[in-house]
Amino acid sequence: MADLSIDFCGVRFKNPVIAASSELTLNADNMKRCVDAGVGGLVAKTLTDSEAMRNQTRKNSKWRFLDEKHRVSPGKLPREFSFYGRSGLAEEEPAEWAGELREAVAYAAEHDSVVIGSAASSSGPKGWAELAKVVEDAGVPLIELNFGCPHPSQMVGEKTGMVVGQDPEAACEAVAAVAAAVSIPIITKLTPQVIDMVEIAKAVREAGASAVTLTNRFIGFTVDVENERPNLYGWAGVGGPWVKPLSLRWISKSYVAMPDFPITGTNGCYDGTDVLEFMMSGARIVQMCSAAMLKGYPYFTEVIKQVDAFVERKGYRSMEQIVGVAARKALTYDQILSLPPERAEIDYDLCVDCGICSDRCYYHSIDEIDGRYVIGDSCRGCGLCSTVCPEAAISVVGGG
Ligand SMILES: Cc1cc2nc3c(=O)[nH]c(=O)nc-3n(C[C@H](O)[C@H](O)[C@H](O)COP(=O)(O)O)c2cc1C
Repeated sequence: MADLSIDFCGVRFKNPVIAASSELTLNADNMKRCVDAGVGGLVAKTLTDSEAMRNQTRKNSKWRFLDEKHRVSPGKLPREFSFYGRSGLAEEEPAEWAGELREAVAYAAEHDSVVIGSAASSSGPKGWAELAKVVEDAGVPLIELNFGCPHPSQMVGEKTGMVVGQDPEAACEAVAAVAAAVSIPIITKLTPQVIDMVEIAKAVREAGASAVTLTNRFIGFTVDVENERPNLYGWAGVGGPWVKPLSLRWISKSYVAMPDFPITGTNGCYDGTDVLEFMMSGARIVQMCSAAMLKGYPYFTEVIKQVDAFVERKGYRSMEQIVGVAARKALTYDQILSLPPERAEIDYDLCVDCGICSDRCYYHSIDEIDGRYVIGDSCRGCGLCSTVCPEAAISVVGGG
């Protein structure tokens, strides 16, 4: 096995695959199951001081896997499934939760794994600081502040999770209060439901955060068309592997803006290749929830093996070599304009003259001439034809 270990805020993880804060880590028993599956680490379910957020989990947990049409789909699911639903935060009161956390921390330490604590207060900076202290005292080396939970946005008066994440001032006050209360590094988990996540990442860094988790999930609305009503009675959290490009956008943007500000990636990671995509975009460790909840704890072992196989095949000497490698190569639109031009080229040994390329060329650059399709001089190398050609007869040449 390759050396998959990586440092995150001074803490060594034996591999970058992390179980995200969720029902996967709802209590000590569940956290132990993550550790048994070989995860580099896990983020515990978020500790809260809100009875309403505890009750969301106890009494209002509702989850459905949806198919590619966003229909409730029992049984076999496509890779591009959605995970739709709601719950809340940890069910236990802080004192009881500390016991669960302590047990998980001890078990993880015996198995070379790491428990990251998580907290989210509903009662302002003082509340954030108090919860963070409970979490730190349970022995975790890192704490994640959950500024991303989407459900408070659907609840009356719950100023926690995403409601705080959308208010940079409130988020910064919470970070500053926690920074004054604890000595472990603070990771802030942000909501993507803002205009500019990088601006918020910069602000929380300034306030005392050592790292950032990008991104939590979105709120959605899906319809049971047969019964003319919403699934699960109303709005709910939504995500799935299809959301990955949106997450990678913010991870890469944050990495490029602040390469020395560590990122843990989440939201849309399905398999080992996705873990590597998150890392190449700038994440150092990658948190998974939906796919693992669909497939069960042993799935983590499979994902770690997939990462290992890639790292072995490519001969990386260290996981450091992977972090941000693609983000660093990303060009701005202006830079892309200055690259040498590209154009489409047809391989007539493969072309069957179906004309699909010409029909789908919205720039009118492919014409039929004497029964054969020909790329004209006006081709700008957009590449659409190469992806709709059923025979893979078209390639794009030139460029940088
Ligand atoms: C069932 C469920 C429960 C979750 N609970 C929490 C939580 O308590 N705290 C938190 O920070 N994020 C929570 N999340 C968000 C996940 O940690 C994760 O960031 C998100 O699901 C995106 O990753 P994924 O695409 O692998 O599912 C939860 C997500 C789900 C689906």
